[in-house]
Amino acid sequence: MWKFKNPIKHPILETRWPTAELAARSRLFSPVGIGKLEARSRTWVPAMVPWRATEDGFVTQQNLAWYKRFAEGRPGVLVVEATGVRDIPSGPLLRIGDDRFIPGLRKLVDVVREASDGQTLLFIQIIDFLAVKRRPEKAKYFQRFLVVDDHHRRALAEVTEHTDWVTESDAEVREYLQNADDEIVEFVLRARELEALRFGYRERVTDTHLEHIRGLPAELPGIFAAAAERAREAGFHGVELHYAHAYTMAGFLSAQNDRTDGYGGSREHRVRLPLEVYREVRKRVGDDYVVGVRFLADEVITRGSRVEDAIYYAKEFAAAGFDFLSLSKGGKFEDAQEPKVGQAVYPYTGQSGYECMPTVLSDATGPFGRSVPLVAAIKKAVNDAGFAPPIVATGGISTFEQAEEILQLGQADIVGMARQALADPDWFVKVKVGRGNEVRRCTYTNYCEALDQAHRPVTCKLWDRLDLDEEGIATVDDGRRRLEPPPWVG
Ligand SMILES: Cc1cc2nc3c(=O)[nH]c(=O)nc-3n(C[C@H](O)[C@H](O)[C@H](O)COP(=O)(O)O)c2cc1C
Ligand code: SF4
Repeated sequence: MWKFKNPIKHPILETRWPTAELAARSRLFSPVGIGKLEARSRTWVPAMVPWRATEDGFVTQQNLAWYKRFAEGRPGVLVVEATGVRDIPSGPLLRIGDDRFIPGLRKLVDVVREASDGQTLLFIQIIDFLAVKRRPEKAKYFQRFLVVDDHHRRALAEVTEHTDWVTESDAEVREYLQNADDEIVEFVLRARELEALRFGYRERVTDTHLEHIRGLPAELPGIFAAAAERAREAGFHGVELHYAHAYTMAGFLSAQNDRTDGYGGSREHRVRLPLEVYREVRKRVGDDYVVGVRFLADEVITRGSRVEDAIYYAKEFAAAGFDFLSLSKGGKFEDAQEPKVGQAVYPYTGQSGYECMPTVLSDATGPFGRSVPLVAAIKKAVNDAGFAPPIVATGGISTFEQAEEILQLGQADIVGMARQALADPDWFVKVKVGRGNEVRRCTYTNYCEALDQAHRPVTCKLWDRLDLDEEGIATVDDGRRRLEPPPWVG
């Protein structure tokens, strides 16, 4: 995990919880229009991947139990985890790339409707991602993956001062490099080859020498639109297009996107495909369906998009007709740490990852609501331009006082809580009925994120060892962790 040089350990915020009367009069528990719908409160559980789908992307009993548990807390909006729009194997992540996924997703919708008594709007986040391979063994990389060419031969001749290398066979070059010192390997391999060796091979939207990457602008609008249609068919109230973090659409928005085919370079060109995807989705689901977007207020990487880019995108998205804008921050591959051999690079291990899911080991600003100023700037620009889609702020928000202040100051229209909702999905109902002092407070130390990184079922350290010997508790790790928070006996 990335750390500040001299981190300051922040205690979780002390707070006073509202009475039920105060909560009833608050902005947080007031309704908000989202497209043609209305959320009953301005509370929002953003997408969180729990690693509970089947290997081939179907909804499991564990998925149903997970979302039921969140629905019991009755947030205004619950967003289902990033769900793949393609029909390709992607491990135990939900998929929506074919009609065969609809029945399972429909069940999920039914479970949430019932558990929230129809009080929670249910959206699904839909995502496309490019190939990311595990970090290979050194020998395997040199023997199987490296494509030897004259660049390597010439570089070897130069660095070793032996011109014979220019005519050596592929096998000789591979053998030599496999056993060479790091400095030689660094000199001989191209930057992307070195990355493939140390991080695992990873595609980018700028790899336009690859036909399928070149063809993304032609392919993605239809794929996203078909996925959105299935979401509608399954009964979700809306879709959230995932344009954030380390994935394909965020790659197009990134300031690092220098495609020269009209889909990269200037901001106008970088936002082109995200808008084309939106228009195709809108065309297929109709004007009455909620279509929102999650994107980055700042990429937090060198040569990445900054808040000025986000402001430009936000205005374009609002003008195009998106029904909500949900902001996140960071979460990129570009500054991620080297994974161990056999593991895949995880886009939340660098500084951008810190900013995405900030912990209490922080700088002087601390983790609590640290991206709110960016969200406020984006909201102001969108509103000043004459648009008013609700804007969702997330990141280190866990108390009523924090959430209410953000809303009262007009910094955002809706407040998202991911980890706090995982720590206690009943946060919303407890606070609403004046029993906020019973909230299980998130400690923001990211045990849950470490599980996500290891691709293991996500749980929270505050509750996953509780009452393990009680009957009927679903568990993992040979019974050592329960999968859902215990019920609140209110
Ligand atoms: C276990 C876990 C899984 C996550 N999965 C997603 C995801 O699928 N899509 C997404 O946009 N964000 C995802 N996030 C990021 C959260 O939605 C949220 O932006 C982040 O945790 C910061 O908010 P918080 O401080 O309220 O937790 C995930 C976060 C966690 C902890
Ligand atoms: S595991 Fe830690 S960071 Fe994650 S939700 Fe629980 S208390 Fe919060």
